[in-house]
Amino acid sequence: MGEKTTANLKIAFQGESEAYFRNRAFADQAEKDGYPQIARLFRAVAEAEAIHAMNVLRLRGIVKDTEANLERAFGTETFAFEKAYPGLIRDAEDEGERAASISFSQARDVEQGHAELYKKAMNDMMSDRMPEYHICTVCGYVTDGPVPEACPICQATSEKFRKIE
Ligand code: FE2
Ligand code: FE2
Ligand code: FE2
Repeated sequence: MGEKTTANLKIAFQGESEAYFRNRAFADQAEKDGYPQIARLFRAVAEAEAIHAMNVLRLRGIVKDTEANLERAFGTETFAFEKAYPGLIRDAEDEGERAASISFSQARDVEQGHAELYKKAMNDMMSDRMPEYHICTVCGYVTDGPVPEACPICQATSEKFRKIE
């Protein structure tokens, strides 16, 4: 693939992904403001942007077989908690941005948990262990065990956990 198109696919993916999340957040706000029909529009367009992002992702050849995808997912989570977030946390602390620092710190700890789950799943590929996963809807912590009374990362209570289908 041409150099410019390779770079542009990455730019398009970032733009479309951002648009998806921005529209999701706008939809939540529209619900809060009492405009359910506008919320639906934001959700519809969000879904369209997600389709664009997925199309670009396919063109970029990011999706491989599941064993390779698990390895990549493990690698990116490991990079996130070992290298990326520690740098972001340092910068937030240097600038006295306490809310950002707390958010980054929680995400770092959560990513470490994700990496561990991927590692386990890689080992499980040949076995018939079928864990169920629950996610903390506040911080993104995922567990393959029983739902804890309080989230170990953000202390949210057990009702904030959602089972992943
Ligand atoms: Fe789009
Ligand atoms: Fe993660
Ligand atoms: Fe949490």
